[in-house]
Amino acid sequence: MDATILEAKQLVRTFGGGRTLFGREKPGVHAVREMELQVRRGETLGIVGESGCGKSTLARMLVGLDSPTSGDIYLEGAAMDTQSARQRHDLAKRIQYVFQDPVSSLNPRKTIRASLEAPMIHLLGLDRDARRRRLDELMDAVNLRPEFLDRYPHEFSGGQAQRIGIARALAAQPEILVLDEPVSALDVSVQAQVLNLLADLKDKYGLTYIFISHDLSVVEAVSDRVMVMYFGSVVELAESESLFRQPRHQYTKLLFDSVPLPGKRGVRGEDGLAELPDPLNPPKGCAFAPRCAEASQQCREAMPPLNPVVDIQHYTACYHPVGTGPQESQNTRDQ
Ligand SMILES: Nc1ncnc2c1ncn2[C@@H]1O[C@H](COP(=O)(O)OP(=O)(O)OP(=O)(O)O)[C@@H](O)[C@H]1O
Ligand SMILES: [Mg+2]
Repeated sequence: MDATILEAKQLVRTFGGGRTLFGREKPGVHAVREMELQVRRGETLGIVGESGCGKSTLARMLVGLDSPTSGDIYLEGAAMDTQSARQRHDLAKRIQYVFQDPVSSLNPRKTIRASLEAPMIHLLGLDRDARRRRLDELMDAVNLRPEFLDRYPHEFSGGQAQRIGIARALAAQPEILVLDEPVSALDVSVQAQVLNLLADLKDKYGLTYIFISHDLSVVEAVSDRVMVMYFGSVVELAESESLFRQPRHQYTKLLFDSVPLPGKRGVRGEDGLAELPDPLNPPKGCAFAPRCAEASQQCREAMPPLNPVVDIQHYTACYHPVGTGPQESQNTRDQ
């Protein structure tokens, strides 16, 4: 259960950049910055972070839909050549992506049968009979009637369409699913159905999940471990229970405090979740420092490393972790 199935080292993705015709350096968008990631076989790793922090960019690289600018991805210890189309194709057999918007992620001009058969043909090379058996099995697994196979995406509700999206991701018998906001576009009642289905499928097929969401209650409900991203980096990583009991990074605390609760006012004012830093010009130190009430000179000068705090399984990239007692009062607050 604890063996690492997927790993990323120093993963970087920058968009644009390079030099102009006259040799002047053009700034690039730093979407993912020196990211480290380890996914254990059979777990659900939740990833949270506000819009634009690089969650989808990371996810797309992990499934081979995009190539990193630098850094490496390892599947069961073997380095993937992420620049090679052939290897990205192999990666796609083992890791599949489920998109946020179920209806628009399906080709509107193709029947469900055609959408589900495509990965069986291109990734597995299954013949007609084998495909027919697999289609029946898949529709049954996601609780959809077989006659739906000959319909088109617009004929389905959001929840049904997402179940088809999940069936398509499972068509090539992957080991890992990267679920990018899989229930965010659905009504709350339908969300629960889809989450239950995902839990059943995980048990049935022995899957590993990377579950991306900005909804903290969903992440808490589904995850074994949770990774918090801020501005393209991991700022906190812990067992879900430990993280939700006591967040250690100042950003995570702010994120948790900002969740609107009944009877409580919405997102807080000036110290609430404001803008991310300028992605064209990332700050030198901790990217959260400009918004952090605890920030010291050290935070502005050097990026804090991701280290265990209090509990050996609870990592945070913060010089002034929340709730670490005397250390907090020793901080030289210069703000
Ligand atoms: N193809 C692209 N070209 C240029 N910039 C991009 C591209 N894709 C993403 N970005 C930028 O990279 C950063 C991270 O984007 P990403 O979509 O990964 O964020 P996210 O965490 O998934 O956000 P959301 O929660 O809104 O889905 C953003 O600043 C975004 O504008
Ligand atoms: Mg996204």
